[in-house]
Amino acid sequence: MSKSIWKSHRDALAARLRDAVAVVFAAPEQIRNNDVHHDYRQDSDFFYLTGCEEPECVLVIAPHRAVGDQTALFLRTKDPEREVWDGERIGVDAAPGVLGVDKAFPIAKLAELLPEWLKGARKINHAFGRWPAQDAIVTDAMNAAARIHRRLGHDTPSEWVLPEELLWEQRLIKTPESIDAMRRAAQLAAVGHRRAMAVGRPGVFEYQLQAAMEYEWMVRGSRRTAYSSIVGSGPNACVLHYRDNARQTQAGDLVLIDAGCELEDFASDITRTWPVSGKFTAPQAEIYRLVLAAQKASIAHCRRGHTFQAVHDATVQVLTAGLVELGLLEGTVEACIASEAYKRFYMHRTSHWLGMDVHDVGRYRLSGASRTLEPGMVLTVEPGIYISPRDESVPERYRGIGIRIEDDVLVTTGEPEILSANAPKEIDELEALIGTSTLA
Ligand code: GLY
Ligand code: MN
Ligand code: MN
Repeated sequence: MSKSIWKSHRDALAARLRDAVAVVFAAPEQIRNNDVHHDYRQDSDFFYLTGCEEPECVLVIAPHRAVGDQTALFLRTKDPEREVWDGERIGVDAAPGVLGVDKAFPIAKLAELLPEWLKGARKINHAFGRWPAQDAIVTDAMNAAARIHRRLGHDTPSEWVLPEELLWEQRLIKTPESIDAMRRAAQLAAVGHRRAMAVGRPGVFEYQLQAAMEYEWMVRGSRRTAYSSIVGSGPNACVLHYRDNARQTQAGDLVLIDAGCELEDFASDITRTWPVSGKFTAPQAEIYRLVLAAQKASIAHCRRGHTFQAVHDATVQVLTAGLVELGLLEGTVEACIASEAYKRFYMHRTSHWLGMDVHDVGRYRLSGASRTLEPGMVLTVEPGIYISPRDESVPERYRGIGIRIEDDVLVTTGEPEILSANAPKEIDELEALIGTSTLA
């Protein structure tokens, strides 16, 4: 994305800040062991406002200051010796030109200069509670600003505004450029899922399916997964956040893959479940059709004006009715919903927001009520049924079946747009694709 996108995000936040100043930190680097770091992933708030991937940066947006002096970036100085080891840094001199901020300063000057940037603001917008070391920097600066500037009659921040009130509401409604990135991320994720299906055959290890899928993502431009890929075969399909990915598949298994790539820091999140031998057994197909019907019923509610809760309720209605019909639940559909008996087989929610974070920011309820969907929101729709292999109260033919189907859906002014639509989910499409290729 061009740097004007990040500036437009900053400008939109500045307009909402009014008498608040925003202080947004880059993600801290995390040590894996000794002097080796975990892969670095920028903080989504910071990236959304800067497009900058460097650690050790702080962005300040101060709309109460004079035009041309409202945004400051504190960042690492150039250091030729360190750059030999870790790569090039933007540096202070180049930062305004590269990132479009008004001013840039060395990160080492943050404690000294931040109180001046707080002068004249009444509130501070900072993600308090996320990283204690960052909180300490902000509260020290607030105290210093109060001490220095209040006695001369200036305001300094005395109230907090949490990101969820302003910035996260902004991130919840995706811009056209963000939607474009998310559409490409979901389409690419689907290419990887298709590849895993194509190399599916009994005997393949779960991590080999993962490798085939993630390879497709990286060679096509994705830098990383959006979260750790879940590849669960056989009984592992019933483990909701399974991560071992170590089992060898066996003939007759279902494989549940819940995985998405990241593109330009936007996430995708797709789940597909399919038979490793290439053909659904009769009980697998019965449960699969039920989950698919529930998913389609929920997607139909991803429309402007419908509530987030309605998307979930549609799944609960269809799944419960189906489970009663199959004899897996007893009693009336209404009674099984009222008593939440369905939770024995469907224990998670149907949707979450999707964006730069896989479980993206944004409130689900406003003033106590489920929020109404608006164009530009992206949510997942991911019903499932999980029947424990150890549940002896269930007919044996259903035991151990775990199925989830998940798509990424954009709310528009008209029909819902399924961003991940090129990942097959109809039984005949899946059966035609599974096992048509080899690893290698
Ligand atoms: N992959 C986590 C989720 O679907 O929410
Ligand atoms: Mn998922
Ligand atoms: Mn999800």
